[in-house]
Amino acid sequence: MPSADAVRAAAADSGLDLSALPVHVGIIMDGNGRWARSRGIPRLLGHREGYKTLRSVLLAANDLGVKYLTVYAFSAENWRRPKVEVEGLMKLIERAAIDELRIMFRNNVRVKVAGRLNEVPDGLRRALEKGVETTADNTGITFTLAVNYGGRAEIVDAVNRLMAEGERSVHEDKISAKLYNPDIPEPDLLIRTAGEMRLSNFLLWQGAYAELVVVEKTWPEFNLEDLVEACKSFQSRTRKFGGDAE
Ligand code: IPE
Ligand code: IPE
Ligand code: MG
Repeated sequence: MPSADAVRAAAADSGLDLSALPVHVGIIMDGNGRWARSRGIPRLLGHREGYKTLRSVLLAANDLGVKYLTVYAFSAENWRRPKVEVEGLMKLIERAAIDELRIMFRNNVRVKVAGRLNEVPDGLRRALEKGVETTADNTGITFTLAVNYGGRAEIVDAVNRLMAEGERSVHEDKISAKLYNPDIPEPDLLIRTAGEMRLSNFLLWQGAYAELVVVEKTWPEFNLEDLVEACKSFQSRTRKFGGDAE
């Protein structure tokens, strides 16, 4: 494994401005199924390969100096998939949460989750909660795993919490304050792999002004160089937030 300094030096050599990185990167990790199908192997093996990609991309993002990484692991709509795939994914994420905790800790990663955790299997929920608790004081990258996550559900949950507190009207700041992780800044860059140009209900509220990068490679094929390229693409954009560029 190259050192963080080597990762940063190679990225800078390839033209990345390390002083202007996106602070928060979100990734829609898509194409595990297609990766597996093109090899004639079961979809779950695609998800397992995707998990390995995630480990290396997370550590690479941390090395580069990205402060927040949020990845879409299981959407609120993914329950529509066949039972074996759903159960396999739940088990895979649970095992990953348990097995990776050491590596997360050693690399100073602070783990967070986003999604309706009350609806996932108990073992998975406990493993995720343990990961969050154990790494709460870490000061490196904040890594958020979106599990049973839906952008619309998140907004509905926020509004319901406000109503439960007796609020009779909402405004944007009040909703922002009740999202799953209100302290995490909005994503600057959203990457989606496997060529699909849609959000699929990911970070709808927070991603209002995110720059989008769609990569043709499937998620298991994605690597550090692709992350650096996406960040370079981000750096070539003019962000306007509805105003003018000045
Ligand atoms: C993304 O890969 C992982 C999850 C949605 C859990 P897919 O499983 O959606 O892969 P494709 O889109 O079928 O290729
Ligand atoms: C989005 O991918 C969800 C995750 C990556 C976890 P999907 O593969 O579920 O999205 P659609 O169905 O193609 O929109
Ligand atoms: Mg997909």
